[in-house]
Amino acid sequence: MKDTVFTIKENNIIAPQTYQMVLEGDCSSITAPGQFVNIHLPGFYLRRPISVCDLEGSTLTIIYKTVGKGTAYMAQRKAGETLLVLTGLGNGYDLGCSGEKPLLIGGGAGVPPMYLLAKRLRSDGKEVQVIMGFNSKEEIFYEEAFRNLGFQVTVTTVDGSYGVKGFVTDALPNQYSYVYTCGPEPMLKAVYKGIQTDGQFSFEERMGCGFGACMGCSCKTLTGYKRICKDGPVLRKEEILWED
Ligand SMILES: Cc1cc2nc3c(=O)[nH]c(=O)nc-3n(C[C@H](O)[C@H](O)[C@H](O)COP(=O)(O)OP(=O)(O)OC[C@H]3O[C@@H](n4cnc5c(N)ncnc54)[C@H](O)[C@@H]3O)c2cc1C
Ligand code: FES
Repeated sequence: MKDTVFTIKENNIIAPQTYQMVLEGDCSSITAPGQFVNIHLPGFYLRRPISVCDLEGSTLTIIYKTVGKGTAYMAQRKAGETLLVLTGLGNGYDLGCSGEKPLLIGGGAGVPPMYLLAKRLRSDGKEVQVIMGFNSKEEIFYEEAFRNLGFQVTVTTVDGSYGVKGFVTDALPNQYSYVYTCGPEPMLKAVYKGIQTDGQFSFEERMGCGFGACMGCSCKTLTGYKRICKDGPVLRKEEILWED
């Protein structure tokens, strides 16, 4: 874990209320796809956690949706400005379980962490399949980026305006060796029920400190209480306990 000043290289809108920010700084403590960074925003008490979308040397890419005051503040930042970023947070995905044909499922703001994961699985020679779920065609981002990695990509939209009409679970393929997923909790629950293999699920719990000190993100699992920020955000299917 490192708290470092990053310089904003780009901060562009890529879909309605969705921004891609490219940052330059010390990324040495980021060790796995599925990890997140926690961004200090001047004037805000709590930092804002955002998943690592891509990483190349000292260049870090994140994608965020503007849902409140913090992310609205981020959207106004310009290239050349700096941000204090805590990096290397969370456990990230374990690539060792993927098998030969892993299936990656991202929904909305859960799509970004799938990108670095897909790149790393490709480096390991895996035959990756990707399902990306959105509400409608206008919300889609990164479809081309995933296709450019050479993978089979399926896009679902709830309103049927693009790709397969329905939810990500309406597009599950017949064959896959393992599942990696990130997205809103109702989607994670549906994926949990719909898949035939084991998998790893990333949760975007509300957070306080982001590094295991405050217990603010603690949640009950089948193997005891876990801090989503430190013991997660990725949980294995066999340890998840859904509380209705
Ligand atoms: C590990 C982790 C990774 C994340 N990765 C991403 C990412 O890659 N891209 C992205 O767009 N967002 C991501 N998020 C969610 C992001 O942190 C929140 O959207 C952000 O903190 C909201 O800040 P705000 O000040 O704009 O909104 P606030 O004013 O804090 O909240 C506005 C609204 O958003 C809701 N909200 C805030 N945080 C969350 C959350 N964590 N989960 C669900 N609802 C929330 C609030 O309940 C409220 O309704 C991630 C969260 C976690 C915990
Ligand atoms: S947010 Fe503080 S322990 Fe997880």
